Amino acid sequence: MISSFHMEPEQLIELDDQASGLRGFIVIHSTALGPAAGGCRLWAYDDDAAALTDARRLAEGMTYKNAMAGLPLGGGKAVIMRPAGDFDRPALFRAFGRAVDRLDGRYVTAEDVGTKVADMQDIAAETGFVAGLAKQAERAGGDPSPWTALGVFEAMKHAVHHAHNCDLRGLTVAVQGVGNVGAGLCALLSEAGAKLIVADVDPHRCKHVSDRLGARIVDVGDVLAVEADIVAPCALGGVLTPAVVGAMSARIICGAANNQLSSPEMAAEIAARGIVYAPDYVANAGGIINVSAEYLGEEACQVRDRVMAIGPRMADILKEADLAGLSPAMIADRQAHRIVANAPALVR
Ligand code: NAI
Repeated sequence: MISSFHMEPEQLIELDDQASGLRGFIVIHSTALGPAAGGCRLWAYDDDAAALTDARRLAEGMTYKNAMAGLPLGGGKAVIMRPAGDFDRPALFRAFGRAVDRLDGRYVTAEDVGTKVADMQDIAAETGFVAGLAKQAERAGGDPSPWTALGVFEAMKHAVHHAHNCDLRGLTVAVQGVGNVGAGLCALLSEAGAKLIVADVDPHRCKHVSDRLGARIVDVGDVLAVEADIVAPCALGGVLTPAVVGAMSARIICGAANNQLSSPEMAAEIAARGIVYAPDYVANAGGIINVSAEYLGEEACQVRDRVMAIGPRMADILKEADLAGLSPAMIADRQAHRIVANAPALVR
């Protein structure tokens, strides 16, 4: 369970195509706000149960993320179990595309961990219910990472203003993972006058950011405990454990990684320690905002307005959390639930 609330999914679809080796699940968690949208993950799961558990958790997270981003989309997710050994990748994704097409638009797919633009193009040969394709002219589309980085940056700016009534200039931000999103975030932070500390399991990525922006490199095991004002988890989920939070000197957590809390209970523990946690699925919605605009055929400029709205939305959540004496994660979950619960009256 990723949140303090829980809603059962609307539909579970088992994928099984022996010819291509396709095996996995599509979970349609909610279509209350629109087609269930969420990426397709390709991963080496131990067994069916592990794949289905992951798909359910991720699909539910997408319902809340899309609701809070103000998108006309529900939540869903697909997981494909990576076949052992060599496999015909285009055939696998075309079989997946046919499965998506059979759902008649109730689920819209895109990239996720382990999948890329070329896979989406194979899927698009079989169905129109796919985004994350190459960008065309002024249309929205292309790499979502810069939009995710911008949304996290805006969320962080508002969190800093909420906690310290100042801007980012002169503050130190420790960034865990300087991949597509983390490196983009570092560039925005540097421009805003923040000092950077970075860590990545890939030393080349750290060196690149350090050479370009003067970031200090620390060990991957130290980055969340280092002396800093803000930490930005931009690598993996589940990193905010009791031990990590107990050793943290930063007073603000705001990053791009999905499902940062090791359990829903961590939200209250973080708040009790006087640390401001910017709920991940609110901060990192820039990518799905871009994917949504691509799918709906909107212009790139519309994406920017929606991504910039992440900052004020975060400020509202933090303010409401203070007033209610609850964690920001609990407030975000509550708001997301309310949006989904009220959807039939608003949309249908
Ligand atoms: P990426 O794969 O480009 O970057 C992740 C980076 O983290 C890599 O450089 C990797 O070497 C590093 N890393 C892995 N394990 C690490 C560890 N233990 N310690 C330090 N660094 C480690 O991924 P991307 O696209 O930058 O995404 C980052 C996070 O944000 C992921 O959790 C992703 O699910 C999430 N996210 C990304 C979105 C996007 O638009 N790309 C949208 C929403 C969420």
